[in-house]
Amino acid sequence: MKLFSRFTLLQIAIHIYAWSALVWIVIELLAGTFSINPIQELEQRTGRHAITLLALSLLCTPLNSLFKWSEPLKRRRTLGLYAFLYATIHVIIFVDLDYGLAWSQIAQTVLQKPYIIVGATTFLLLVPLAFTSFDIWKKRLGKNWKRLHRLVYLIAPLAVLHYIWSKKGDLLSLSGDIIRPLIYGLALAIFLIVRIPSVRKFLASLPSLGLVLFPKKDQPPAQRDPQTGD
Ligand code: HEM
Repeated sequence: MKLFSRFTLLQIAIHIYAWSALVWIVIELLAGTFSINPIQELEQRTGRHAITLLALSLLCTPLNSLFKWSEPLKRRRTLGLYAFLYATIHVIIFVDLDYGLAWSQIAQTVLQKPYIIVGATTFLLLVPLAFTSFDIWKKRLGKNWKRLHRLVYLIAPLAVLHYIWSKKGDLLSLSGDIIRPLIYGLALAIFLIVRIPSVRKFLASLPSLGLVLFPKKDQPPAQRDPQTGD
């Protein structure tokens, strides 16, 4: 029990959720109930988990702004690193399980399928963010750290574009399986808009939604984001 007392409920929930996708895959593989197209299923599940964790990491700032709840700001790095972990597994499945490390064939596919170029760009942009997410890099890079981490404003829409494009749907007629990626797109757009400093300031000036919904005394004020300082 001592172990659990060191973690908050939110931390425990994040770790359980993050590992759940891998654990579930292993359980289904062992039980022999996994998809008849296992490689595609693995690609899709890891891709979805990566974008979901990315979205959750971007939800932390709105949660702080709306509910004056400061803990999510401390959990953003964990969520971001888990998103990177799943994106890496997603890429490894593609290059190894799907293409058997046949690099010339991989290059050909990348050139033929623009959504793969978008996915690869998204992944490459995620790499510096993941590696510099630690405090030591924050100190070393100073103001440039904040600038670098603004790349998330590019990464999120690219990830959504990769998702929508991979479904081979038509945006205009809303055909194909593109409703789910569109919902991700809308959610990510809202989370990013709420991170814009002027929007954050406006939200911070409103009474806490938490206070309105669950009134109680001594509600702590909204905190500055420890990662961006906004
Ligand atoms: C080199 C980088 C990447 C490659 C080669 C790649 C490859 C793929 C492939 C082949 C699929 C289609 C699977 C199918 O339906 O047949 C896919 C789907 C997907 N990928 Fe990626 N991807 C890359 C990066 C990323 C990144 C960085 C993210 C998210 C942060 C991501 C998220 C997704 C999502 C959400 C899907 C759709 C899953 C679904 O159909 O439900 N991918 N990717």
